[in-house]
Amino acid sequence: MLAAYADKLDADDPLAGLVVGERPDPQPPQGWTTVRLRASALNHHDLWSLRGVGLTADKLPMVLGCDGAGVDEEGNEVVVHAVVSTDDHRGDETLDPGRSLLSERYDGTLADLVAVPRRNLVLKPAELSWEEAACLPTAWLTAYRMLFTQSGVQPGSTVLVQGAGGGVATALVALGRAAGYRVWVTSRDEAKRARALELGADAAFESGVRLPERVDAVMETVGAATWEHSLRSLRQGGTVVVSGATGGAQAVSDLRRVFFLQLRVVGSTMGTRDELERLMRMCVQTGVRPVVDTTLPLEEARTGFERLSGGEAFGKVVLTRPA
Ligand SMILES: NC(=O)c1ccc[n+]([C@@H]2O[C@H](COP(=O)([O-])OP(=O)(O)OC[C@H]3O[C@@H](n4cnc5c(N)ncnc54)[C@H](OP(=O)(O)O)[C@@H]3O)[C@@H](O)[C@H]2O)c1
Repeated sequence: MLAAYADKLDADDPLAGLVVGERPDPQPPQGWTTVRLRASALNHHDLWSLRGVGLTADKLPMVLGCDGAGVDEEGNEVVVHAVVSTDDHRGDETLDPGRSLLSERYDGTLADLVAVPRRNLVLKPAELSWEEAACLPTAWLTAYRMLFTQSGVQPGSTVLVQGAGGGVATALVALGRAAGYRVWVTSRDEAKRARALELGADAAFESGVRLPERVDAVMETVGAATWEHSLRSLRQGGTVVVSGATGGAQAVSDLRRVFFLQLRVVGSTMGTRDELERLMRMCVQTGVRPVVDTTLPLEEARTGFERLSGGEAFGKVVLTRPA
């Protein structure tokens, strides 16, 4: 089968280890099934993997990709849930200490075929295209959980999204807006601020500027570069939900601000299969759809990776396969 895979790891030059070429078809173990993919989407996670974060050299070669939608062995149109929990785990699979994401321990979705546990398949609503459905399992699911499970703030609240252009950030804007939050964004880039406003953000600010008023919650995926601003922007008792650290993971906090203002710092990772089902239903109910930056055939995966690593993308980069 054709696949985009990591052949070596390089912390400084992640694309040096990216290969688009032939890999053996998967041999699903018992309880697993094979999905013939129609579309996959890139995530920052794939760049982290190529850098050797979350992926070790002894696992190579590893097919990359967490996001995918396709047709299962019975002919059902399905979306693949990327969190693989251990067989005996019950409850929220993101809290399973033994869980992994596709492409960390098991081959991922940037391929013709992917093997996954049967329980990881969710039926694709007919209203979503292959490209749209393929965007949902990672960045969009993460955004859904950050907003609706972890933030604790209700519609009508003001939510600040840091780094407007990212896959998670664009999902936060679209979902937050659809659910009735007042959504503010920051970006270093004027064009991305304008795009975020088109997408439904209520206001867009340059990264780091003082906001007109304090917000109820901040959605953080940038990390060290925006962390201090996130804490400074929160009202008393406000919540920062953090799920990523593209701009550095070692952030400094003034703890006095955290305890005097009784701020809540909440981590968030991916989401559950149930949340993925609800996210898809929300897309159907509200008409909200993933923001697709670029669609390319899998053969041109390198071009998509270059767009992602160059920080040029606004929304998701999708890779497609013919029927
Ligand atoms: N925990 C989880 O389950 C989970 C799931 C999905 C993603 N993530 C993580 O979340 C992060 C975002 O992922 P993504 O796919 O949405 O990706 P992304 O494309 O990496 O997001 C990039 C955005 O981050 C901002 N940014 C990057 N470096 C910055 C810096 N030095 N200063 C200020 N802003 C900076 C940029 O905003 P502007 O250019 O607009 O300023 C850019 O639009 C990644 O680190 C990813 O690993 C975690």
